[in-house]
Amino acid sequence: MNLRQIVAAVRNPKNEEDERTSNRRFPGKDCAWRTAVKFSGLRAKSQRKRSAVVTRRSRLVAGNWKMHGSRASNGALLQAVLAGLPRESGAEVVVCPPYPYLQQVSERLAGTSIAWGAQNLSEHGSGAYTGEVSAAMIKELGCRYVIVGHSERRTLYGETDAQVAAKFAAARAAGLTPIACVGETLAEREAGRTEEVVARQLHAMLEKADFGAAVLAYEPVWAIGTGRNATPGEAQAVHAFLRRQLSPDVRILYGGSVKAQNAAAIFAMPDVDGGLIGGASLAAGEFIEIVRAAQ
Ligand code: PGA
Repeated sequence: MNLRQIVAAVRNPKNEEDERTSNRRFPGKDCAWRTAVKFSGLRAKSQRKRSAVVTRRSRLVAGNWKMHGSRASNGALLQAVLAGLPRESGAEVVVCPPYPYLQQVSERLAGTSIAWGAQNLSEHGSGAYTGEVSAAMIKELGCRYVIVGHSERRTLYGETDAQVAAKFAAARAAGLTPIACVGETLAEREAGRTEEVVARQLHAMLEKADFGAAVLAYEPVWAIGTGRNATPGEAQAVHAFLRRQLSPDVRILYGGSVKAQNAAAIFAMPDVDGGLIGGASLAAGEFIEIVRAAQ
């Protein structure tokens, strides 16, 4: 059974009647298809079992600062966020500044409720890799999280599924929590390939390491930095699809043009556990409102 068939089976569990019909239509020879049906049956059964288990996933809001900031502006932003965050925040908050500012951010946030992380890491442990930063180095700066496989890394820097998977494994091995990003382009969505693409990206990582306590971020490429967010329903559909392939306690964040004004509706979806926030994480007021919406 190939990936496309697994995706079809997970998305659209068939009942026995469908299977009988299909056997009539494809008598005896479409084995892969029937294996997919069988697989989907098992999947559906385990889903029912899982839904009986009450899982309480904590909310997480992560700010991806991308290549923005200066010592002065970072200081002011953190000051304002710390001052404005509710004392008893029900959501975990993380900021991911550019590498050179991790030291500054770690000093400012030590002892506060906000964690910090990096935006990328090398898949290698050490060696002649000019310009790269290892998981151990990131760890040494007190990072708990690291973003892996962001679509900007994939599209602008040519990171392949295999490379992203190696980075994911390196982060896991070092005890960092990867925020692993998956998402389809507009052309892929319009071609009806969203699930196939995100499943391929996810399974590449799962082949290299257990998902464990890692965080998944669904970030449709067409929604990143465009001002056009996925509707809550569109996000929920993909999150539910991804959830079916993971342990029920994995946190799945939505990312792509989340703002104060749309956050509550997106976070209200049952399979959305928070957000990965780009542009809006650079404005303290917006970011604080998004964190409030996640509680
Ligand atoms: P955006 O970016 O919120 O600016 O769309 C999200 C991201 O790239 O993680």
